[in-house]
Amino acid sequence: MQEISTQERAARLTAALAATPGKLLIGGKWVAAQSGRTFETINPATGAVLGHVAHGEAADVDLAVKAARQALEQPAWRLMSAQDRGNLLLRLADLIERDADELAVLECLDNGKPAKLTRAVEVDGSIKTFRYFAGWPTKFGGETLPVSPRSGARILNYTTREPVGVCGLIIPWNYPLSMAAWKVAPALAAGCTVVLKPAEQTPLTALRLAALAQEAGFPDGVFNIITGFGDAGAALVAHPGVDKVAFTGSTEVGKRIVASAAGNLKKVSLELGGKSPQIVFPDADLGPAAQSIAQGIFFNQGQTCTAGSRVYVHRSRYDELLGLVSDHAKRLRIGDGLDPATDFGPLVSDEQWQRVNSYIGIGREEGARLVTGGGRPAGHDKGYFFEPTIFADADGSMRIVREEIFGPVLSVLPWSEEEDLVRQANDSEFGLSAGIWTNDIRRAHRTAAAIKAGTVWINCFNMIDPSTPFGGFKQSGWGREHGRQAMELYSEVKSVWVNLS
Ligand code: NAI
Repeated sequence: MQEISTQERAARLTAALAATPGKLLIGGKWVAAQSGRTFETINPATGAVLGHVAHGEAADVDLAVKAARQALEQPAWRLMSAQDRGNLLLRLADLIERDADELAVLECLDNGKPAKLTRAVEVDGSIKTFRYFAGWPTKFGGETLPVSPRSGARILNYTTREPVGVCGLIIPWNYPLSMAAWKVAPALAAGCTVVLKPAEQTPLTALRLAALAQEAGFPDGVFNIITGFGDAGAALVAHPGVDKVAFTGSTEVGKRIVASAAGNLKKVSLELGGKSPQIVFPDADLGPAAQSIAQGIFFNQGQTCTAGSRVYVHRSRYDELLGLVSDHAKRLRIGDGLDPATDFGPLVSDEQWQRVNSYIGIGREEGARLVTGGGRPAGHDKGYFFEPTIFADADGSMRIVREEIFGPVLSVLPWSEEEDLVRQANDSEFGLSAGIWTNDIRRAHRTAAAIKAGTVWINCFNMIDPSTPFGGFKQSGWGREHGRQAMELYSEVKSVWVNLS
């Protein structure tokens, strides 16, 4: 088969997108929004309109929820064997793999992230996620428990796992395909039906995923997708026909979701913001630490919930580490993500660019020292490009150290005493993740135990795998995605008592 270049693939996709107005997938049918409205999706590298997607609203959400409820009750899905459910997930993973290069380019066009990184991280990660969860339906069951009603009684007690029901899945724009996979895969593995609401900035790969699920053979109504804005998400959260909401996004919207879900007390899981510390001890190998610290903040242009955005480095190695991380920042090749040489693409939107830029002024006013970056890179006057940026001499009272910037902005802070270091690292409303750099095994584990975060990486950063739980302490969220914990999020436990006498 003839190889197609990334540029040619992008040209074909762009032409196809321009020619097809967006649709919603409801009950197995691709339909226009009831209002007939669409909205633009933009290429962040150029600011150009890529295509038009359906502008789903509350009325469309209502139809999708009803379709998902109907599918939940149909024998085709409700009575499907665990093995067959697993096989459908495997088939979906195969189809993602078949279209992997195209999905990577589509994500690059819609989100701006470099296609080569998207292919290696996001698309392959999604394939891995679907294959991992394909193994769960045949292994996720209940228990037989040794209850003690009274001596002599002959009682059997066992538990079963049942799908929680109709799930509203609301995802953000920073890892659009991965975030869809992280929620859709365990929900379907548990036997739920879903209504997926992708972010308004990046709907395209989620739409493609829905089409691939249809091709894989999931029964109609099991996988529905509504493209739209926050009001569509809010309608999904408030809908009495939804049993569970899973959300990734801002802490602010997460709090609104909790309040709104109270109507029918639907189950809620949340993956929210972060302000993850990277802790460097004086004995650390600074070469690998600096490289990983640079990656930990600059990968995906800093638009990562686990971004290691505040670095605490021992005073004795402060200048050395700062120099090394700055060198990495300056070496990153900034450009259109379709260019295979690009390491660092644009931010997702003008709104995000303005937000990140506002923090440069804040950091300067607060007295931090701008070491590198701080604005639009030279030669990139179109699109939403922002330089990799480092502030030195920051302290824990500054907003640039306390607030989630969600962009390529790193604050570097010196420390002297280990006890105070842990206090500083934990001095945050967030608790998503942390990195520790040392060759002293006791110090590494002591610090890992003291850090209040859902994930701790020692001499590495941002390692993620579907088999290990992911989520946050404090205001970084509720619940854990991945692993057995994700299957638990999408299921209910039933305890059955049987009198055998
Ligand atoms: P957002 O939280 O507003 O959007 C995320 C998703 O929620 C989108 O699909 C959006 O349409 C939906 N949504 C918005 N309002 C809603 C509502 N009231 N009810 C239900 N769904 C709703 O995030 P946004 O505005 O795109 O980004 C703002 C900031 O949020 C970022 O700068 C960053 O700090 C943080 N963020 C964190 C993410 C993470 O992975 N933890 C991901 C995206 C954003």
